[in-house]
Amino acid sequence: MATRNSQFRAISWASQFLSHKRPSWKCASCKNGRPTSILRRSFATAPKDGPKKSYYVTTPIFYVNAAPHVGHLYTMVLADILKRWRVLLGEDDAQLLTGTDEHGMKVQQAAQLAGMDTQAFCDRNYKTFEALAKAANLDNNHFIRTTDPAHKEAVRYFWEMLEHRGYIYTAKHEAGIQLAMKRSILNRRCITLWIRQLARRGCLIFQVSTVTGKEVEWSSETNYHFRLSAFQDRLLELYDTGFIIPGKYMNDLVKSVSSGLQDLSVSRPAERLSWGVPVPGDQTQTIYVWLDALVNYLTKAGYPFPPGQEGRLGWPADVHVVGKDIIRFHCVYWPAFLMALDLPLPRRVLVHGHWTINHEKMSKSTGNVVNPFFAIDRFGVDPMRFYLARAGSIVEDANYDNAYIIACYKKMLQWGIGNLASRTIGCAKGNLRSFIVNAASNQLPPGTASDQNYETFLENMPSEVAEHMKVLNTHAAVKAIMVIIEQANKYFHEREPWKQGPESPRVIYNVTESLRIAAILLQPFMPSKAQELLEMLKVDTSNPERRRFSAAAFGSDPDYGEGVEKKVLFPPLIIEE
Ligand code: ME8
Ligand code: MG
Repeated sequence: MATRNSQFRAISWASQFLSHKRPSWKCASCKNGRPTSILRRSFATAPKDGPKKSYYVTTPIFYVNAAPHVGHLYTMVLADILKRWRVLLGEDDAQLLTGTDEHGMKVQQAAQLAGMDTQAFCDRNYKTFEALAKAANLDNNHFIRTTDPAHKEAVRYFWEMLEHRGYIYTAKHEAGIQLAMKRSILNRRCITLWIRQLARRGCLIFQVSTVTGKEVEWSSETNYHFRLSAFQDRLLELYDTGFIIPGKYMNDLVKSVSSGLQDLSVSRPAERLSWGVPVPGDQTQTIYVWLDALVNYLTKAGYPFPPGQEGRLGWPADVHVVGKDIIRFHCVYWPAFLMALDLPLPRRVLVHGHWTINHEKMSKSTGNVVNPFFAIDRFGVDPMRFYLARAGSIVEDANYDNAYIIACYKKMLQWGIGNLASRTIGCAKGNLRSFIVNAASNQLPPGTASDQNYETFLENMPSEVAEHMKVLNTHAAVKAIMVIIEQANKYFHEREPWKQGPESPRVIYNVTESLRIAAILLQPFMPSKAQELLEMLKVDTSNPERRRFSAAAFGSDPDYGEGVEKKVLFPPLIIEE
């Protein structure tokens, strides 16, 4: 390994941004002399003054070693729903970032295996992820690739700042090997025994992947380390602020971080890993792929930030949406890196469970996957988005099931929404507009107790949905929207407006309002179908105010309903079960 020049190599304009003095102690391969003054500093927060920053949501950036599957689609859709919800609230500048992670050993090896030049391999494979974002109707503002020059520059700068502040030191571990083995060749018990023997012989540092049980890695080589152990207390304080949602995942992490944090190896020898960003000033080492990847969230936000402009493009992120497999990277390493640089911390990390097939994790490496393009082709993009949000779980794993998708489609969409819309429009006998005019001028016939109860229910539901979205619970939110549909159906059948009784206009109006309100609230979940339903009800969709959350209030739109006609919103699925 090349000896580092102890002098800090300021990159052109770096030094003018340095907010505090260089730490008095030098990087060294020892763990003494932690900068205690930094430890005690409270969290950096977003600047209070200046214009309000945009709401900023991210997905993980996905490895391009293999094609995406339904798990990736799920994360994309959840993040998109969160972004679109903010737009629904009136925040038109809300930002969504997704993209691809193109460096590191996985990608280097996959390119080798494909017999391709690594850059060409990435240039080919990232397109599938970009195409998936498009097919899923993601409203992403940007698609980032870690091979983008601007990102690599941001990573180099980030590294230099960490080093300048004394958080990176060289440490000598023993030489490293990585093995990937199939469980069929060597089971977990064999691996454990074998490692124990090796550990007894030398001082190996090893890890067994607890997720797949298939990978053994032990690192024992000379490389750069990050002083992660310095952040244990501050991380634990951070978890107390509700940083991780849902709490279930936080509890596990608190346990693990409380039991101690080791410093983190943040580089690999270039001879082993050449595909990545070289350590500035030391071409013999490549920056650890996770440090590189996590910085993508900053790159999009304009990092390195010109002074006073940290929040201009949305930093700090409001929500990082991630699968439970990458909690540690987002909730331990990432906040610690940011704390080291006094950068504002992301506000929340939303962790979700995994999709399984036959109760085994859907995974690129095992090939146990559902092709998301096929699923979208088969069921349509909005029904898929709906199914994933409705059946997916952030707390537990969810088992992917075609039969359940079909049942969901029939019961909730085709019958629940589509059929209710047709029947209501049918009952109005071409007069729907007159009921809306009468409602606006308070001339509908007085209702019964049942009508009044229903109206109170409808008045309350949008805020219930909003409460769920406030805590990022998309699953509970879509479920609550569908309660509007279920109750509207029940009310419709109980009140029988097709009999044209004296109160029928009021009942038809209430059910039409249910459809309009549900359509507004469904926009983040099923953008096209919700729009179609609003258009079918002749809501003025060219006026953004008519489709915002504020318009989801009972009786708030006096202008819709002119010339409404029935349309088939959810046609029968032409598929065998
Ligand atoms: O981890 N169910 O990329 P990755 C639900 N590059 N979601 C799933 C899933 C499943 N079965 N399988 C994958 C990486 N995902 C890094 C991320 S971020 C700075 C770097 C989703 O291609 C889920 O979001 O392995 C998971 O966290 C992510 O894909 C992992 O994607
Ligand atoms: Mg993975």
